[in-house]
Amino acid sequence: MNYAGATERHATAWAAVGLPSAHESARLHVLGKATYTDDVPELQGTLHAALGLSARAHASVVGLDLAPVLAAPGVVAVYTARDFPGVNECGPILHDDPILADGEVLYVGQPLFLVVADSHDNARRAARRAAVTYADLPAIFTPQQARDARAHVLPPMLLQRGDCQAALDLALHKVRGRLFVGGQEHFYLEGQVAYAIPREDQCLLVHCSTQHPSEMQHVLAHALGLPSHRVQVECRRMGGGFGGKESQSAQWAALAGLAAHRLQRPVKLRADRDDDMLVTGKRHCFYYEYEAGYDADGRILAARVDMTLRAGYSADLSGPVATRAVCHFDNAYYLSDVEIRAACGRTNTQSNTAFRGFGGPQGAIAIEYIIDDIARHLGLDPLDVRRRNFYGIGGRNVTPYGQTIVDNVIADLVADLERGSDYRVRRAAAARFNERSPVLKKGVALTPVKFGIAFNVTHLNQAGALVHVYADGSVLVNHGGTEMGQGINTKVMQVVAHELGLDLDRVRITATDTAKVANTSATAASTGADLNGKAAQAAARRIRERLAVLASCLYGGGAAAVRFAGNQVHVNSQVLPFTELVRQAYLARVQLWSDGFYATPGLHWDPVTMQGHPFSYFAYGAAVSEVVVDTLTGEWKLLRADVLYDAGRSLNPAIDIGQVEGAFIQGMGWLTTEELWWNADGKLMTHAPSTYKIPAVSDCPEEFHVRLYQNANVEDSIHRSKAVGEPPLLLPFSVFFAIRDAISSVGQHRVRPPLDAPATCEAILRAITAVRTAH
Ligand code: MTE
Ligand code: MOS
Repeated sequence: MNYAGATERHATAWAAVGLPSAHESARLHVLGKATYTDDVPELQGTLHAALGLSARAHASVVGLDLAPVLAAPGVVAVYTARDFPGVNECGPILHDDPILADGEVLYVGQPLFLVVADSHDNARRAARRAAVTYADLPAIFTPQQARDARAHVLPPMLLQRGDCQAALDLALHKVRGRLFVGGQEHFYLEGQVAYAIPREDQCLLVHCSTQHPSEMQHVLAHALGLPSHRVQVECRRMGGGFGGKESQSAQWAALAGLAAHRLQRPVKLRADRDDDMLVTGKRHCFYYEYEAGYDADGRILAARVDMTLRAGYSADLSGPVATRAVCHFDNAYYLSDVEIRAACGRTNTQSNTAFRGFGGPQGAIAIEYIIDDIARHLGLDPLDVRRRNFYGIGGRNVTPYGQTIVDNVIADLVADLERGSDYRVRRAAAARFNERSPVLKKGVALTPVKFGIAFNVTHLNQAGALVHVYADGSVLVNHGGTEMGQGINTKVMQVVAHELGLDLDRVRITATDTAKVANTSATAASTGADLNGKAAQAAARRIRERLAVLASCLYGGGAAAVRFAGNQVHVNSQVLPFTELVRQAYLARVQLWSDGFYATPGLHWDPVTMQGHPFSYFAYGAAVSEVVVDTLTGEWKLLRADVLYDAGRSLNPAIDIGQVEGAFIQGMGWLTTEELWWNADGKLMTHAPSTYKIPAVSDCPEEFHVRLYQNANVEDSIHRSKAVGEPPLLLPFSVFFAIRDAISSVGQHRVRPPLDAPATCEAILRAITAVRTAH
């Protein structure tokens, strides 16, 4: 790893940001001593809950006999939809999402009732004893079926610019096609879990593995008919969220809360892995039909895409996911005349939700597929076609949704990666290899990423923090973001330590807690460190300013000249320990704690016209992947990956590189081995790691070069850094297109391989057969 930029930049001044500090919990993680929700010590009398799930995809429930469940050993209570004192509803935007199914089930796996027992095992065994009678109703499973039936959870969206049809009619060349890109299970290592504890006077404390404590508080309050101030939700950390605990932790929180509130006893609901996968939504799979017109150089003159998402049985976050897909179809390319449609298909499957990238990856992969098609048709290197279509300056720098791009570095970044990875040399070597090798075929591809940072919904772009400096000089920080392994707490600690001139070990961060910072947004859209870092900085700055005023009163010199560095305070040519100034401040009755607030400026968005300035800035990146494919078995291996990612002025290059590596491998899993498969009755059969294959250590390339592109954010983001959580998930497009490249070598690169994602061995073999037949 290359931290040269970081150390050089900070050699002269005090710096806690920009350094490759270890994750704040790394020691605890490694020792197995980090507390996750299921590790919170259980109170005496704690009960355990389990769910009874629907066995049918779409049916009326004509009989529900729960007497055998109630009679099972250890069972204390059974609850159904009728038992909520408030509303039986947990939809994050629309109210179409019952916590427990009421009279009608909409997918296999939908929770129908809750059993509470003296042990986890007893609760699970009892849940199987219900006698449910169903009257089946017609069901829809695939996005294609939903499209044909015009079954939508939301009105379809259209973003257009120019005159796509006229430009298509004029184009010398045209391509048409269809594509299917599968969904993805979050596979957080820690499953969904909530532990609800009744408190005096109808209050409730809920420990929950969630990216969105405020939303959990809100749903719990509604479901139980309580004002929000009686419900407190706390999350120290998650064992991964990846978007799957943004809205979908609500059902679990609400159910644990319902039982705890009704019984006035602590209740834990921890999903078994199979139940977790059967109940919760995933990344949306997409079905696309596309059409593009282009010139002899591969320049795109017109592009039209019609995307149908598998939303599942309810809206959940499908609307904003589809919006982000629409706003990322352009990826790094200027599209003058475009028509982008998206429809959220209503299906009798799990309700799909946020997943790292939030629709962005699904939008962008379509244009990359089209460009790959164009390159095959013209016999050009796909990189050359990509480059000819990059956003430029003056005219070619406005997105289809009307935002002018002012921070474009894609051309320079890609050129840097092309050189650094020996792209041309290795493409030529792969071609020579393929000439001599009848069975094994190599492929090499470079793909770029441009990703918009901010929530499309403007009001979500706000955050708050509290900083306490105790009289002994130690510092405690609380902010609205949640830690899911991504390192937000480490970054926020760095920001606070930086403001106060302290070493990191002087600063601690506490669990996220709705009783501390109110009305927080989900930690999502990669904005966690951007928003909460700014809020914490504002809080720390206020305390520093108060301390500086006191120091100048006591020791002379101007307050503005007081410097905080190295756990010391430099004032009027004197140096005193930070702890000493704090002690004096306490005695002088100076407020040693502060809140801080931040709202991202300059954002606006019109969801009707799909125009505005939805993003604060763009993060960029590119990757080169080289694969070898066995054309007899469809097996393949990633031999080498080279990645360059623009993290702005990285707050923490070690964490950022870890995020890039993790996102790359996670995205590679989505596009290759991770296949969700429902049987003809609509039951998800891949509901455990035995049948659902996420990447393993052995799937990581032996040569994996990840570099950060040195580039200060043009926006006034926290220390000019850029978000890193989601954008790198699009970098393994290069793996998918390297596989497609290897397949296309079978047809001398002149046939467009009909390769869907995930590119499983079967999908690869099907595409090879199609290329051979067409050739
Ligand atoms: N990294 C880890 N280790 N675990 C996670 O669950 N979630 C990703 C990303 N990186 C995730 C992760 C997702 S979906 C998002 S939106 C961002 O982290 C959220 O955190 P941030 O905004 O602080 O980057
Ligand atoms: Mo991330 S999908 O925005 O939680």
